Amino acid sequence: MSHSVRVFSDLDALAQAFAAILIKDLDRVEPDHFYTIALSGGTTPKYIFSYLAENYAERIDWEKLLVFWGDERCVAPESISSNYRMAYESLLQNVPIPDANVFRIKGEDDPSTEARQYSELVTDNVAEFEDTPQFDLILLGLGSDGHTASIFPDRTDLFKTTRLFEVAVKPGTAEKRITATGRLINNASKIFFIITGKEKAKIVAEIVEKKSGSERYPASRVDPESGHTVWMLDAPAASQLKK
Ligand code: 6PG
Repeated sequence: MSHSVRVFSDLDALAQAFAAILIKDLDRVEPDHFYTIALSGGTTPKYIFSYLAENYAERIDWEKLLVFWGDERCVAPESISSNYRMAYESLLQNVPIPDANVFRIKGEDDPSTEARQYSELVTDNVAEFEDTPQFDLILLGLGSDGHTASIFPDRTDLFKTTRLFEVAVKPGTAEKRITATGRLINNASKIFFIITGKEKAKIVAEIVEKKSGSERYPASRVDPESGHTVWMLDAPAASQLKK
């Protein structure tokens, strides 16, 4: 249960640091083993993914990576709001990663069935730690309401469930999502919150500095038991942090 904060002058610097950590981690992967990563969605990762594709396509050993998602919108992969589509167009189609290494959440299928099936797929393909799949790295974003993955403030019970993936609904909409739960997130070896922009500065400071009332934000409950959390921030997103 440790966390650190890293602040970058701009998105290129953040992407370079992310790539450097990934390359170092991949160098440590044993032969016949994989490095398992769960991607986040939304808009923030798109620039980072594009930067990796443009600058690290030949410098990252993509064959060692198994790619999953921490959450998905219940839409078809062609949909503009599909997290898979965003990652595919900005990264996966532009780097030499085998199709067999990419495990998308089937947002087009029945949500509860897919939540169950994806839990089984993760259980079959991600090494376990203390009877729960343990991702080597989970990427997370942060919504202005304090949600992360697709765990929204009205569903903090998803940090108590024994299930690995659950169906959620974006508050105020009928938009269904499939999301990793707290059990899976907090069992990760490493978690990167990648957050940019001054509109996130206030909530970042509230959560990182554990200000009173911040426990109502789902992101404040991300605290991996045996893992480490890194807040990867650009300067505007870090602009309200005391230190
Ligand atoms: C999603 C995400 C979600 C996202 C935040 C931040 O599917 O939307 O996984 O948790 O990370 O909503 O989104 P932005 O990066 O667009 O601000």
